[in-house]
Amino acid sequence: MTESDFIPEGYSHQLEDGSVSWSSPSNIALVKYWGKHEPQMPANPSISFTLDSCRSDTKLSFSKRKHAGTDFSFDLIFEGKEQPDFKPKIATFFKRIERYLPFLTDYHLVIESSNSFPHSSGIASSASAFSALALCLMSMERKLDPDMSHEDFTRKASFLSRLGSGSACRSVEGGLVVWGDHDDIPGSSDLYGIPFPFEIHERFKSYHDTILLVDKGKKQVSSTLGHQLMVDHPFGEQRFKQANSNLALLTPILQIGDLQGFIHIVEQEALSLHAMMLTSNPYFMLMKPNTLNIINSVWEFRRETGHNLCFTLDAGANVHLLFPDAESDKIYEFIKNELVAYCENGHYICDNVGSGAKQTSD
Ligand code: PMV
Repeated sequence: MTESDFIPEGYSHQLEDGSVSWSSPSNIALVKYWGKHEPQMPANPSISFTLDSCRSDTKLSFSKRKHAGTDFSFDLIFEGKEQPDFKPKIATFFKRIERYLPFLTDYHLVIESSNSFPHSSGIASSASAFSALALCLMSMERKLDPDMSHEDFTRKASFLSRLGSGSACRSVEGGLVVWGDHDDIPGSSDLYGIPFPFEIHERFKSYHDTILLVDKGKKQVSSTLGHQLMVDHPFGEQRFKQANSNLALLTPILQIGDLQGFIHIVEQEALSLHAMMLTSNPYFMLMKPNTLNIINSVWEFRRETGHNLCFTLDAGANVHLLFPDAESDKIYEFIKNELVAYCENGHYICDNVGSGAKQTSD
């Protein structure tokens, strides 16, 4: 597939006004995407678990404009309030996707969105938010072209999500999702995410992700800048090779259920991501003292009990704890007794692998 395959040839139906709603989850990368080139193409492939409870719920209302302009006409309401601050980001997204959804300027759009997780939790909501919006726009397009196949719908939703926020393309489908071209993964593409195309071991179908909220504030350095700093990064090429090789190593691990192999790669990926930040020019650090306290406690707990608990990190200070369902009782006990003390106001979120985005109204 190429980008031009996503340009529609024309529509068979008319559409006046109405609304559609989608609920779309966040995701947590196991092999990280860090570094990109225009237009939102990843420097290396990545793979993530789709989450279940951390979601964005978006309703898109549309009405045909009397005089369609060349500009975009939309209102944005986030958690019940108009949010002019978010509008430029959405306008940039619309500009990027207009070629693929030529009907956009024909409608006035009202986007109403809210997150299931607390607004200021330090959890990036761009993956769930952009995938939910892209899916709503695809539902509009399906009304104009009702013969569109489910496969085409899903693939284009992921393709459009990517143009909003790279990692958002991994939030459309459930389970494990791969984004980025990789020789060992048939069907993988830089343009959109695909479900991991091999059998997944039962253990990894019900994996837990408990997010420890170490710092709920806004990050000092945005992901956008972090990605940019990978362009001339002294270790960039090495890092992109490492991510490719880690995805190759993780592929059989996910099929056979090798927990030790999983832990090794996932933690190495998290620390490599942050090592890139520490060695960028300018350098920066998103981990906080309690991020390191948690990591050290996790390692000690693993050494002492042998439980398969590991951590991963996003571009922030919060820690994602990953563990199999079969060991969850003992691990939750450890989290409550030992780790909650490191969380801001004792806050954490219990999540697990989910089944992907869902349409909530048509
Ligand atoms: O999708 P973005 O531009 O917010 O970048 C996400 C980058 C990481 O979360 C750090 C890694 C990943 O693959 O999700």
